[in-house]
Amino acid sequence: MRNTFGNALTITLFGESHGSAIGAILDGLAPGIEIDDAFIKNRLFQRKPKTGTGTARRESDDYRFQSGVYNGKTTGTPLCITIENAQQHSSDYETLRYTPRPGHADFAAESKYHGFQDVRGGGHFSGRLTAAIVAAGALVEAALRQHGIYIYTHIARMGVILDDALCEQNRHVLDTAEFPTISRTAETAMKEYIAAAGKEGDSVGGVLESEIVGLPAGIGEPWFDSLEGVLSHVLFSIGGVKGVEFGEGFAIADMRGSEANDPYYYKDGRVLTASNHNGGIGGGITNGMPVRFRCAVKPTPSIYKKQKTVDLSIGADTELTISGRHDPAIVHRAAPVVNACAAIAVADLLTVRYGTDFLKTGLR
Ligand SMILES: Cc1cc2nc3c(=O)[nH]c(=O)nc-3n(C[C@H](O)[C@H](O)[C@H](O)COP(=O)(O)O)c2cc1C
Repeated sequence: MRNTFGNALTITLFGESHGSAIGAILDGLAPGIEIDDAFIKNRLFQRKPKTGTGTARRESDDYRFQSGVYNGKTTGTPLCITIENAQQHSSDYETLRYTPRPGHADFAAESKYHGFQDVRGGGHFSGRLTAAIVAAGALVEAALRQHGIYIYTHIARMGVILDDALCEQNRHVLDTAEFPTISRTAETAMKEYIAAAGKEGDSVGGVLESEIVGLPAGIGEPWFDSLEGVLSHVLFSIGGVKGVEFGEGFAIADMRGSEANDPYYYKDGRVLTASNHNGGIGGGITNGMPVRFRCAVKPTPSIYKKQKTVDLSIGADTELTISGRHDPAIVHRAAPVVNACAAIAVADLLTVRYGTDFLKTGLR
């Protein structure tokens, strides 16, 4: 029952939605990394529910370093970061102990933890825990940026509403210009789409598209710890992520080899590829092109429509109407979580290749 990810740099996640606090422990960090509070706060803000589309739970998300930071820099010893839970409404959830929400982890958790799990607010399985991932991951992401490694995620699709222009425009970016999260027109259409589903007590899903730029060629291990494998591992840890694909992903099955292969060429003494259908990865290892991947995020499982479920206390079928506070979409809020997870995975592989001090010193 491990809750730890990584080899040379690890993250351990702890807490429950309605416990006193949630948090994460990063172990294997380089000493001397400057803590970029503004960056961490910004990423936490991106994860927060937004007015009009979000849940009514409003947490300040103030984080506190319990260990591993001294005079604003990492010490290199285990870094523990915690975020208090202030806004618990636990009575909303007591009925869910016996009537599991379809699409959520309630029944699976009951099966694994034999009824000892904290059911309040989804307990350890709540999206609330992603705040701790974002806080820890943003610390790492900020350190990566110091060495020219940037992670960009934008909403490629909210349900059926596409952000076409951005997908095309950003397909082969080599520079490190920040993606706008979304184009204005798409943002309005997406908000309306979410609101319409929300009004019906329903929810919507979508697709996040990400690129990691600035990674040197040669990162990732062949076979089991391939970059695809390690990234998928951590991305599938995000509750609600049901698909991860690299480069053209499933669409590559429809292409011919002559279309799918990315031709090499030299530019200023550097080997590049003219297209990037393979997502910047060959044999599980980076080739120096942007690492491109997409995550399918499902519609929020907690919906307000009446649903069929079971009553575990009497062993019979029943119906469920959920109260509590839930977003009609979590896609946009998952974007900084994707960045945080990708940062930790990439930093782990960089640490494996270049050693613990890499995150502080970069390539010397
Ligand atoms: C940022 C974020 C916020 C979430 N908020 C909610 C929520 O308010 N209600 C809900 O039912 N699920 C929410 N989820 C999704 C659940 O955490 C997720 O569906 C659940 O843990 C089960 O995991 P699975 O969908 O991967 O099987 C959220 C996920 C993320 C990433």
